[in-house]
Amino acid sequence: MFDAAHSEPGLVCRKIVKSYGSIEVLKSVDLTLRPGTVLGLIGENGAGKSTFNNIIAGVVAPSGGEMVLDGAPYAPQSPSDALARGVALIHQEIRLLPELSVAENLFLGRLPMRGGRVDRASMEEQSHAVLARLGMRIDPRRRVRGLSMARQQGIEIAKALLRDPRYIIFDEPTASLGEADAALIFEQIYRLREDGAGVIYVSHRLDEITTLADHVACFRDGNKVAEWHRMPVAKQDLINAMVGREFTFEHHAPQPSGDRIAMRVDGLGRDGAFGDISFTLRQGEILGFAGLVGAGRTDVVRAIAGADRADTGTIEVDGVKVHAVSPKAAIAAGIVMVPEDRKGLGLNLDRAAAANITLPWERTLQRFGMIRPSDVSEMGGAQRDRFDIRGRMGLPVGSMSGGNQQKVLLAKWLVREPKVFIVDEPTRGVDVGAKMAIYEIIRGLAASGIAVIVVSSELEEVLGLSHRVLVMSEGRQTGILDRKDATPESVMALAVGGKAVRPQLEPSA
Ligand SMILES: Nc1ncnc2c1ncn2[C@@H]1O[C@H](COP(=O)(O)OP(=O)(O)OP(=O)(O)O)[C@@H](O)[C@H]1O
Ligand SMILES: [Mg+2]
Repeated sequence: MFDAAHSEPGLVCRKIVKSYGSIEVLKSVDLTLRPGTVLGLIGENGAGKSTFNNIIAGVVAPSGGEMVLDGAPYAPQSPSDALARGVALIHQEIRLLPELSVAENLFLGRLPMRGGRVDRASMEEQSHAVLARLGMRIDPRRRVRGLSMARQQGIEIAKALLRDPRYIIFDEPTASLGEADAALIFEQIYRLREDGAGVIYVSHRLDEITTLADHVACFRDGNKVAEWHRMPVAKQDLINAMVGREFTFEHHAPQPSGDRIAMRVDGLGRDGAFGDISFTLRQGEILGFAGLVGAGRTDVVRAIAGADRADTGTIEVDGVKVHAVSPKAAIAAGIVMVPEDRKGLGLNLDRAAAANITLPWERTLQRFGMIRPSDVSEMGGAQRDRFDIRGRMGLPVGSMSGGNQQKVLLAKWLVREPKVFIVDEPTRGVDVGAKMAIYEIIRGLAASGIAVIVVSSELEEVLGLSHRVLVMSEGRQTGILDRKDATPESVMALAVGGKAVRPQLEPSA
């Protein structure tokens, strides 16, 4: 049944339904994407945004409804089917093959052939060109393993751009990026729009939505609950529509920290990566790590947590030297870290949420060498309640929404209370409500006397949470600022390597 609206160019989705067993995750969604526009898609974790995008991109089949693409029926059977019709999706989670080269990843499944051989020269040339378009200088021949999340995300985008799509979906592309890298992606989106492409842009960073979108739709519990066709829209209106009530997003100052030094790091360094990292951390103190993506923050915290080695320097916890030669050794000393990459390092997506949470603690759960399923579900249930995880703890974590996966990851490392708790990008891909909940958890941990290190690319997050902010630039510590002195300007000055403020090692009283 094609009415007038259908014959206009665009992607028209009508009454889209998706259920998994008895659970309806999309309940009759109508949405239209017009060429040459950016549609901002917002909604709480688990609202159904990725599911909707996956349907459009042929990743999952809808349980009901119909789609029309530029006037013709559209029912993609696979992602390549969708690509052939000009629809590309950049996934929320990075899915590159780490052992293959950058170029091989970009051309996966359709390697250019010449005379019966893979035409490497052409592949590398095209790879080079598309990466350059994104402002990325990477050797297309190098392996993907070891590249930062930001660069891997860039490769995912390049991969989609290579197909010259007319409709392109960005599902939280900036979640792992800092502001400078995000700006590069915005440029691409503006260019795509100018060229007449229709873009769907999903983000929990509402400033991005208000900057980019020509049209915004909000999902809640599988329904489209609000839509705006005229910009600008107040951020508060977007928040209220997402949460379904009046909701104020604000930062609360942390409680004053204790007096006792919980951790002392002195002259920590690793050749070619970072050096001269020195700071103290009091009990109950939250120390933020700020800097541009690639400044080395993750390298430093990984060394502190025993995930990577350090060549020089010492680490003390409660006055005792720690030889953090492995994560296990660090944990034994009371240092626990939640890594930034929830998919690669943090979680086993095929295992149940509860089993993920108990994984590091299996030894303590064993009785006569066995772990009782009831103990696993009990621990899982307790953490679900504590962290307000929305989803079934007995199902694979992979089926949970991104934000809830993030909560599972935090819950996993907080079954036992550490002395020093390190989180790298704790709210990546998390909605406003869950974000406030995670901040509350972090402040609560500090208030109970745990020393906390928070690495974050969101300046607002570091400034809002921390007692002090350690800023890094190109592997060096360029300063430590007290909460009262840490402004976006003072942090950025240090992040770009300036020496606006003298480094100060001890917290001022
Ligand atoms: N394969 C699956 N089996 C069962 N439930 C699923 C499956 N995939 C998704 N879901 C459920 O569908 C709901 C919608 O998930 P979806 O990933 O679309 O949310 P989202 O809006 O993208 O959230 P986020 O902002 O966290 O990324 C969630 O409750 C999720 O647990
Ligand atoms: Mg999603």
